[in-house]
Amino acid sequence: MKGGFSQCRSVLITGSSRGLGLHMVNMLVNSPQRPNVIIATARNPATAQELQKIVESHPGVNAVTLDVTSQASVERAFKEVASLVGPGGLNCLINNAAVSMSTDLEKVTAEAMLKTFESNAVSPLMVTKAFLPLLRAAAAQVPGMGIHRAAVVNMSSVLGSIQLNWGSGAYRNYAYRTSKAALNMVTRCLANDLGSEGILCMDLHPDLGGPHADLSVEESVSSVLSVVAGLSEKDHGGYWDYSGKILLW
Ligand SMILES: NC(=O)c1ccc[n+]([C@@H]2O[C@H](COP(=O)([O-])OP(=O)(O)OC[C@H]3O[C@@H](n4cnc5c(N)ncnc54)[C@H](OP(=O)(O)O)[C@@H]3O)[C@@H](O)[C@H]2O)c1
Repeated sequence: MKGGFSQCRSVLITGSSRGLGLHMVNMLVNSPQRPNVIIATARNPATAQELQKIVESHPGVNAVTLDVTSQASVERAFKEVASLVGPGGLNCLINNAAVSMSTDLEKVTAEAMLKTFESNAVSPLMVTKAFLPLLRAAAAQVPGMGIHRAAVVNMSSVLGSIQLNWGSGAYRNYAYRTSKAALNMVTRCLANDLGSEGILCMDLHPDLGGPHADLSVEESVSSVLSVVAGLSEKDHGGYWDYSGKILLW
């Protein structure tokens, strides 16, 4: 991971039970420039064994229960996180939790569309809205833009790009693609609303497979965290991939 999180006191990653979220937590805790407080949220931390091992062996890493689709769960998590971060607030919120189901034209159903939209587009907005007091508390402390101050990173996907979804070879997935396109719009709306308060908002496309599968998981996660570590005003409201390349909406 280039750059580091040394200027970032606290980070929260949703969906840390497995996959990219778990890998990000693991890489951050082992980084010499790690944030003081790492909050790894999961629907059910008790059953996330790898996450539990990390929490048990690394002080300052906290597992918090959070089902991003449940407002009651979001409110309970907010209280817990507020006491973990204290008056310094939350510097970096990574909305990583998401679902993906196979929904080509044959398979797509209204239920799959709505469930995916709820998890991937509505929930990042509701989680961000709930945690705003903590992001604002962090933003009030220092000038500039980035994870040293306050940032919302929405894990989007290149599959949310409308411009890039063209041609017979395009990957067919109505629910996932639509949800990530909606997430991109949520991010732009948040960026418009929160930029003046110094809260950076951006979309990031990671890659743990697909056309760049020759990249190891460690390389992918390292690239994602390098982009997050280096965020500055120029990235606000943007749609970036893991290598720092701007994506077409
Ligand atoms: N993998 C890639 O190559 C790739 C590419 C582009 C974008 N992305 C995006 O990157 C992010 C992570 O992807 P991934 O590959 O790591 O996904 P993954 O392996 O499917 O993991 C998804 C995570 O989200 C959690 N989650 C789902 N619904 C949740 C809910 N209602 N509340 C809380 N947590 C919930 C899951 O928790 P449970 O264990 O409880 O199910 C799991 O921890 C996603 O936003 C994805 O769309 C990934």
